[in-house]
Amino acid sequence: MQVVLDYLKQNQTRFVAELCDYLRFASVSAQPQHQKDLRACAGWLVNHCKQIGLEAKICPTDGHSIVVARTKKRNGGPGGTPHFMIYGHYDVQPPEPLDLWKSPPFEPRIEGRSIFARGSTDNKGQNFAHLKAVEAYLKTGTPLPCDLTFVIEGEEEVGSKHLAKFLKSNRGELNCDAVVVSDTGMPDKKHPALTYALRGIIAFEITLRGPARDLHSGIFGGVVDNPAMALSQLLGKLRDKNGRIAIPGFYDDVAPLSACERKEFSRLPMKDSELQKLLGVKKLFGERGFTPTEQRSARPTFEINGLTSGYQGAGTKTIVPAWTRAKITCRLVPDQNPARIRKIVCDHLKKICPPTVRMEIEAGHGAEAYLVSPTSPHAQAAMRALRGAFGHEPVLLREGGSIPIVNDFKKVLGADTLLLGLGLPGDNAHSPNEKFDLDNFENGQRMSALLWRELSRA
Ligand code: BES
Ligand code: MN
Repeated sequence: MQVVLDYLKQNQTRFVAELCDYLRFASVSAQPQHQKDLRACAGWLVNHCKQIGLEAKICPTDGHSIVVARTKKRNGGPGGTPHFMIYGHYDVQPPEPLDLWKSPPFEPRIEGRSIFARGSTDNKGQNFAHLKAVEAYLKTGTPLPCDLTFVIEGEEEVGSKHLAKFLKSNRGELNCDAVVVSDTGMPDKKHPALTYALRGIIAFEITLRGPARDLHSGIFGGVVDNPAMALSQLLGKLRDKNGRIAIPGFYDDVAPLSACERKEFSRLPMKDSELQKLLGVKKLFGERGFTPTEQRSARPTFEINGLTSGYQGAGTKTIVPAWTRAKITCRLVPDQNPARIRKIVCDHLKKICPPTVRMEIEAGHGAEAYLVSPTSPHAQAAMRALRGAFGHEPVLLREGGSIPIVNDFKKVLGADTLLLGLGLPGDNAHSPNEKFDLDNFENGQRMSALLWRELSRA
């Protein structure tokens, strides 16, 4: 093992340079104009996997390709060599608004111990740490105690549309004892974390249509409903003064937090005042009766992600807009069924829509929440690897983000997912100036190196 850890230590400069190459691809899955970049990025990744000694291939789907890379298979099956899958994604969120970036999103910049680029923490840097750990085994001729398969997809940020089908048609090859994912967070550099729950999600768009075309607001304003005003009023009704979502039935199935979990949460290092400062808000806001940690990890939300209507250019334009649109996602928690929540939300919206506008609702992706035992033998093995690599006692987290595919790992492959995140709260995931911490990159590699031994013993 020491030779693996030494190899990692000696090669950090090259690893960072390689990560920079990876980050230069503008692999934005949501934007059709970046299809070429996604293809190029997958090509680079496959080559890189081959270079470090893995068997690697590009698997085309009806969307963006999936990269599969694995160690040479040995005697798998019952009683044989354990097999673990490492999942990650090479696609990234859109970088906009560009003017808020201190340096261009796809020209990685290193400042202190941070590397700035879109996709650095979410998820290229985190996933790359595992590739480097495996490289260290392969290049030093150190036998791995298990078989490993990397599955790195290009559609995570748009709902992993084609991955479930891929899992189903490659069950044999992907069948494994557990899945390891580093695509979550840790509270700070002294608190490595095992995340044992994620929120689920439903996405949809509401469009309200009023007049047949934009109208002169002087000639016609006053006799037609303004769709933007109608939507504002409608959305305004969906949350009460206590921060609760005012949709009948929304909380019906929400699994309550146990006293034990609430106590654990209150031990986490992030203070309310720090959170407020980090986020740049005047004052925190959330559902009454729950702490910020509880609100952002174990309570459902209704969030407006985008709101559009009327004239957005320079100066003024006196119109009543013909239409307005809101992009919405709800975060869901254990026991909430995405299909049921989608239905009650849509039914409620239609019910309170005024007769002066036409409403259209377009459904997007959806996924249920994830919850796994934090004390299973695999989880305990992961805790040992975290402790060993970071030199600090790891914490157990529930997190608010979503990784929809982990549910399919369980349903299709029967495998639990260990979420071992390397992201920091200040990493600006999905925001301008996204970054990844280089100490976390290195400790993440060490964690991965230790993990295979610990997991294989468990
Ligand atoms: N890495 C995140 C998910 C995440 C972040 C989980 C922090 C826990 C803590 C992932 O890449 C992501 O952003 N997922 C999307 C999923 C959606 C597009 C279906 C999300 O959570 O918004
Ligand atoms: Mn993301």
